[in-house]
Amino acid sequence: MVLWIFPGCPLSRTLSSLYYYFWLLLLVLSLPDLITATTTSQTSHHFSFHTVNTKYGDLQGVRLQFSSSSAKHLDPVTAYLGIPYASPPVNAYRFMPPVAPSPWGGVHFAVNLPPACPQRFPDISNETIALQVMTSQRYHFLLRLKPHLTNQSEDCLYLNIYVPSTGEEIRPGKFAIVLVIHGESWEWGSGNEFDGGILASLGNHIVVTFNYRLGILGESEVP
Ligand SMILES: *[C@@H]1O[C@H](CO)[C@@H](O)[C@H](O)[C@H]1NC(C)=O
Ligand SMILES: *[C@@H]1O[C@H](CO)[C@@H](O)[C@H](O)[C@H]1NC(C)=O
Repeated sequence: MVLWIFPGCPLSRTLSSLYYYFWLLLLVLSLPDLITATTTSQTSHHFSFHTVNTKYGDLQGVRLQFSSSSAKHLDPVTAYLGIPYASPPVNAYRFMPPVAPSPWGGVHFAVNLPPACPQRFPDISNETIALQVMTSQRYHFLLRLKPHLTNQSEDCLYLNIYVPSTGEEIRPGKFAIVLVIHGESWEWGSGNEFDGGILASLGNHIVVTFNYRLGILGESEVP
């Protein structure tokens, strides 16, 4: 399994600076591809034909077929979006360590991206003011990410899995897994920012993105 750690994510704090800069370099090299994947891939989706059994219940995903000219040659991917990996951290579970999810009855349709966790996105409402504190590249990056972060809920502990597929089937065999941990210093961000589809198809590996709690809801060490 490859841990794809973005600068500013919790794990990166504990890594040596050497690793940190290695990942930073990787990020810089790969970001344009990832973001292209997020914003310009035209994909057609329909329900996947097969359900997958997990110990919490069955999952039905969505088949992503790439149609943009730059990605047309890629094999399809089956995406399982918004799979709960913990009980909703609300009410008695707020500020508590995550608790295993309850089994769901029947088939869970894992076909829509989950809400992002509540967060404080940088204020970019005034371009002139924003450009005084960030580069133009950063500003346009934030502008592109913003739509992926507008749907927020405290009930946000979900992950998204992108699996290489062929025809109507998940491709047989074992795959390496790339786990993408989003960054931005516990303040904002979501696994939803990264469409793992193109990455999964191109690299022939499984891509997992996920949300974790942010700000006071995620980092409070005082009950
Ligand atoms: C926000 O997420 C919820 C839960 O997944 C979903 O029901 C709702 O349609 C989403 N709203 C928008 C505007 O995407
Ligand atoms: C943005 O901020 C600048 C500097 O304060 C101000 O002059 C300008 O009118 C603002 N623009 C908008 C669209 O509010």
